[in-house]
Amino acid sequence: MSQPKAPKVTGEFKQKHLISIADLAKTEIEYLLQTAKAFAHAEKLGQSTPILQGKTVVNLFFENSTRTRFSFEVATRRLAGSTLNFAAQSSSLTKGETLIDTAKNLEAMRPHALVVRHSSAGSPVTLSRAVGTAVVNAGDGFHEHPTQALLDCYTMQEKLGSLAGKRVVILGDIAHSRVARSNIYCLQKLGASVAVCGPPTLLPPKPEALGVDYAYRPEALLKDADVVMALRVQLERQNRMQIPSIAEYSSVWGLNLERFSLMKKTALVLHPGPVNRGVEMDPEVADSPNSVILDQVANGVVVRMAVLAAICNGPGLEKWLTDGGYRG
Ligand code: CP
Repeated sequence: MSQPKAPKVTGEFKQKHLISIADLAKTEIEYLLQTAKAFAHAEKLGQSTPILQGKTVVNLFFENSTRTRFSFEVATRRLAGSTLNFAAQSSSLTKGETLIDTAKNLEAMRPHALVVRHSSAGSPVTLSRAVGTAVVNAGDGFHEHPTQALLDCYTMQEKLGSLAGKRVVILGDIAHSRVARSNIYCLQKLGASVAVCGPPTLLPPKPEALGVDYAYRPEALLKDADVVMALRVQLERQNRMQIPSIAEYSSVWGLNLERFSLMKKTALVLHPGPVNRGVEMDPEVADSPNSVILDQVANGVVVRMAVLAAICNGPGLEKWLTDGGYRG
């Protein structure tokens, strides 16, 4: 049996850090997504990819995480790098050390990248200016979550092909969502059209300024969608409850079977996780054949491998892509 053809990788990634999708050119996004595809291809063939051998990645998480932290850790190990995991609760932050001093002290141990999650928007860019080590944003407040958008777009491309002309509806708490913001930028750069929907209190003040369509009720938007992405209500980022009740939110905006039946039979259902079953999405929808929620998690590993390899080891990655026949 002949082997599947190696996917081609075009373009290049010129950034020292990955702070936001807004900073990236379309060709840089395509380079990362195609490189992720090359890693998935190599994995299917059982090839090892020791591109980060001898390199150390520090996971600096000041907010809880299941998917993102483990995914960066698995990605680093699949590239034969080492990971160090920083736990805020047991660190000297509790004795008054600042975020920048913490990062500078970790930098003194000469890691090759700092992967940062923080509840304050702008923390990763602040750190990137304070330290010489490459910084990867793993989610900062309600600003951006760039690797989440990359893995979401990778998953959509895997199922739908090119995203040019595709319609993506993002449903839920748009105002407080870094996932929504990064996805809007990424999808638009890849040629998709985006509509957002949620209670007026959970939409940004001027949604049209983001270049998206918007509605306060989901029904009319659902029928034309190629993809519906539901988001969690981010109660931790609201300074007061901005919806009357969780029950009312679920009954008006939740993706239940009745609303799911309005969608195209081929439409994909995405959620970045964690899912509050029965609130923003019913279990029957989350577990339906249209749901690609666990594909998103699986794809997060190859996407983060691409990001870390591009940031920590550009020349070694380029050699691997060329030698493997991936370079277009
Ligand atoms: N999607 C996401 O960021 O999940 P975690 O908070 O579990 O990392």
